[in-house]
Amino acid sequence: MGNFNRYLITAALPYANGPVHIGHLAGCYIPADIYVRYLRAKKADVKFIGGTDEHGVPITIKAMKENVTPQDIVDKYHKIIYDSFTDMGISFDIFSRTTKQIHHETAADFFKTMYDKGLFEEKESEQFFDEEKNVFLADRYITGTCPKCSNPNAYGDQCEKCGSSLSPDELINPRSTLSNAVPVKRKTKHWYMPLQNYEPFLKEWILEGHKEWKNNVYGQCKSWLDSGLQSRAMTRDSNWGIKVPLPDAEGKVLYVWFDAPIGYISATKELTENWADYWCKEDTKLVHFIGKDNIVFHCIIFPAMLKAHGGFVLPENVPANEFLNIEGEKVSTSRNWAVWVHDYVKDFPDQQDVLRYVLSSTAPETKDNDFTWKDFQQRNNSELVDIFSNFVHRTMILMHKLCGGKVPVYHQERKDDRDDALLAGLLASKQKIEDSMENFRFREALAEVIDVARQGNKYLQDKEPWILARNAEENQQLIDNCLHMCLQLTANLAILANPFLPFTAKKICHMLKVVDRMLEWENAGSLKLVSVGYSLRPPEYLFAKIDDAKIQEQIAKLHAGLVKPAAAPVEAPVKEMKAEIQFDDFAKIDLRVGTILEAEKVPKADKLLKLLVDIGTEKRTVVSGIAEHFTPEEVVGKQVTLVANLAPRKMRGIESQGMILMAENAAGKLVFVNPDAAVDAGSEVR
Ligand code: MF3
Ligand code: ZN
Repeated sequence: MGNFNRYLITAALPYANGPVHIGHLAGCYIPADIYVRYLRAKKADVKFIGGTDEHGVPITIKAMKENVTPQDIVDKYHKIIYDSFTDMGISFDIFSRTTKQIHHETAADFFKTMYDKGLFEEKESEQFFDEEKNVFLADRYITGTCPKCSNPNAYGDQCEKCGSSLSPDELINPRSTLSNAVPVKRKTKHWYMPLQNYEPFLKEWILEGHKEWKNNVYGQCKSWLDSGLQSRAMTRDSNWGIKVPLPDAEGKVLYVWFDAPIGYISATKELTENWADYWCKEDTKLVHFIGKDNIVFHCIIFPAMLKAHGGFVLPENVPANEFLNIEGEKVSTSRNWAVWVHDYVKDFPDQQDVLRYVLSSTAPETKDNDFTWKDFQQRNNSELVDIFSNFVHRTMILMHKLCGGKVPVYHQERKDDRDDALLAGLLASKQKIEDSMENFRFREALAEVIDVARQGNKYLQDKEPWILARNAEENQQLIDNCLHMCLQLTANLAILANPFLPFTAKKICHMLKVVDRMLEWENAGSLKLVSVGYSLRPPEYLFAKIDDAKIQEQIAKLHAGLVKPAAAPVEAPVKEMKAEIQFDDFAKIDLRVGTILEAEKVPKADKLLKLLVDIGTEKRTVVSGIAEHFTPEEVVGKQVTLVANLAPRKMRGIESQGMILMAENAAGKLVFVNPDAAVDAGSEVR
């Protein structure tokens, strides 16, 4: 296990503004739990840290909408989330909250230390402000009509209808969600972390030092680092959050992504007075389990913070998973397209391990993956029931029937090659499972566990003790040996399955009347786990078939819960298509990308702007009818598509040497037709 003497395992702190769904479980909580249970079974010194992330804008918005306080919201969801995890057997050593006093102190001190070292830039910028409520508005607090799809309820950071990311400036008819007032711009001061200063460190540490990270994680880090980091504000204007610990910072709180990861440290402090051993000693292996949307925060920003502050270990690995879709569609909490953990626990009592199994074996480890109820049923029925449960059950039944309910003696002198092969197979599987586990390939590890049960079934099938029993007098020793081996294998299965299926492992221990300590990993591979002559409990089914009706019910429930999207905006009148043209007609048009260098109003013409456009080889003067949509300042610097070979035309005495392309939406709003990433001026458009 490397040169590490202790392990600190974290799982992302979910926002306490809604319950958790199975995508959360598959993305990071089940993988983290599997890893932690495995480490504990290896008797490693390990702490498993979790909690809820209770600050940030979405929580305040939700509170506002429901007319309660943010504290009410986080109290409610902290409990729901905590119960869901507990029910599913996610075995945190602590499940804390970022609203706790200890966290506020820890995060504020962290900020203060960085401040005292001079590591922040203080900058003023213009932010939207609600003059009625007298507060600054985060982008999320501003709504208006989406310039791309005319959705009247787009947010200042994103349109949830068409998925475009937006800035508040782009919204048509922007309004404050707090008061409906038209937001105005106002100056505000914030503390920025110049992330570009940490680029050399991050490049060396990740790109050179952690080539072993999963491809999806390494790739995302590389693309962030290749495109260059920038200063990022680490404070916000809000009254919900951790107050900026400086004298002149009234109404300022820490940015939620600054405080939340420090939550891992605060929770460790709350858990143990030896917290510093875990966070500050180099022989700690720190591993963050997260979903892919959290990669930049855990691989770039938080490590830069830890480095800046000094004295902390850095994560050794960040095994982020991709997303789990449901029945072929992206999970959407706003549309209620999700399977909620609290619903599952209610609908499938005592079947946590079925969900743990299915989510582990379909975990989106390398790419997005799909959960379907049919697949859930199929994996339960044909893997857990037909292979795993079936082996254990047959073993127990046969032992009761043919060996008097006791662990039979193993007669060494009757040992055969088949017995040796079973043991060899078990040892090989154990080795494979360990390799997979150490490399965070849990799907592979779990498949190997099932394979051990498959080997057991094969062994039973080969030995056919029920046939031998027809002549029991002569064959009793062979029967004993067969069931002795099968019982030892059953005990081994409990050990190997325990990280994945802890409830099932416990049930097996109960049937075999062994103590939980048997589950320690070093016992795997032993054939002395259940003692000869010991009488065992009657068999129980570990898993049962799930029928079609139950599955149909779940599918129906998923669809019934779906929230229909808000009424579609009025369709734009469809303009009739122009007459067909040939390729040659199109090829006559020379389209170039240009960059607007200068812009000014044309005197006495309300609609016209005079632009100077750089098209690489030359600069063109273009007169454009966009003055009612854009101010000159807004268009300078924009890239545009220009019809470059249009015959020049005089407008208001100015020669216009080309035309720029604009799109017009249903609301009559114009937007530039420009490349989706910056290109050189003069690039041809084809
Ligand atoms: N609340 C964040 C999310 O759900 C995760 C925070 S992880 C932490 O995406 F590191 F910041 F705690
Ligand atoms: Zn939109």
